[in-house]
Amino acid sequence: MAKPPVPISFDRFSFRVEEIEEFLRGAPPDPRFQKPYQPKIYRLKGGEPVIIRPATKDEAPAILQTLKQLIDDKYDKDFYHLVGVRTYSEILAWYQRRLKDGYVMVGVNGDGELMGLVNHRFWDEDVAISLHTIVFKRAERLGLVLYLSKIEHAFDVVGVNEWWATFESPFGFRMGFRFNHVTKPWPEVQHELGGSRVYYINKDQWKRVVKPFAIENGWMGERPVPEDVLEKTRPLKPTRRLEIEF
Ligand SMILES: CC(C)(COP(=O)(O)OP(=O)(O)OC[C@H]1O[C@@H](n2cnc3c(N)ncnc32)[C@H](O)[C@@H]1OP(=O)(O)O)[C@@H](O)C(=O)NCCC(=O)NCCS
Repeated sequence: MAKPPVPISFDRFSFRVEEIEEFLRGAPPDPRFQKPYQPKIYRLKGGEPVIIRPATKDEAPAILQTLKQLIDDKYDKDFYHLVGVRTYSEILAWYQRRLKDGYVMVGVNGDGELMGLVNHRFWDEDVAISLHTIVFKRAERLGLVLYLSKIEHAFDVVGVNEWWATFESPFGFRMGFRFNHVTKPWPEVQHELGGSRVYYINKDQWKRVVKPFAIENGWMGERPVPEDVLEKTRPLKPTRRLEIEF
């Protein structure tokens, strides 16, 4: 401890935790980054609809309950364990206001059950950071569709110029590879998820290449979502059965 160079009237101050809270928050909610994503429908191979829509903070407990199941080394396959843990911590931080400008989107079936989720956050108006993509029902291309949805939110709704992703799993890498992501110089530029490589696309590549390719393949979903269908996605229920084994 250092002694002040001049006398100070009191030798201690006290603070209420409410006064400290603002310093600990990621950022006050910023309307530039919270522009709402218009829900859409993606149909699984059997025709079952999955509604992709923004999540609200009161839905965090259902998301966490689902992810908690994956925090177990029995899911050390295809990186579900690692991605489950990391996504759990991000959703908790978003819920408890310890993440700057986060945005969470969920894929929900007709029974209101969580099928998958994506999250990203905004560094600033120029750059969006991709955090995680995870699905609880596989071989439906739902991961691809959810991943495209968050890119769509960043470029088309918020209007950033660059999308910065990184990939922990081969299945994740496939998404970036399919969507023309290339690397920033590494290690000069590092992704916030552990300092790994940044794979990115810019707005022009999104508009000219990636989005048309996604539309051509039927991965951009359909709008609008009828109000009664959207209503059935609430309240959000945790995933009953993980269908992640091939
Ligand atoms: C990454 C992720 C979101 C991708 O989801 P997805 O696009 O829906 O893909 P799936 O995981 O269902 O994998 C499907 C792929 O498996 C492969 N596959 C499925 N069945 C197969 C079979 N019988 N034989 C060979 N390959 C098969 C195919 O390549 C298929 O992709 P395709 O349908 O486009 O051809 C998902 O794998 C996931 O949640 N993984 C765990 C978390 C994770 O790694 N997230 C990314 C972090 S970077």
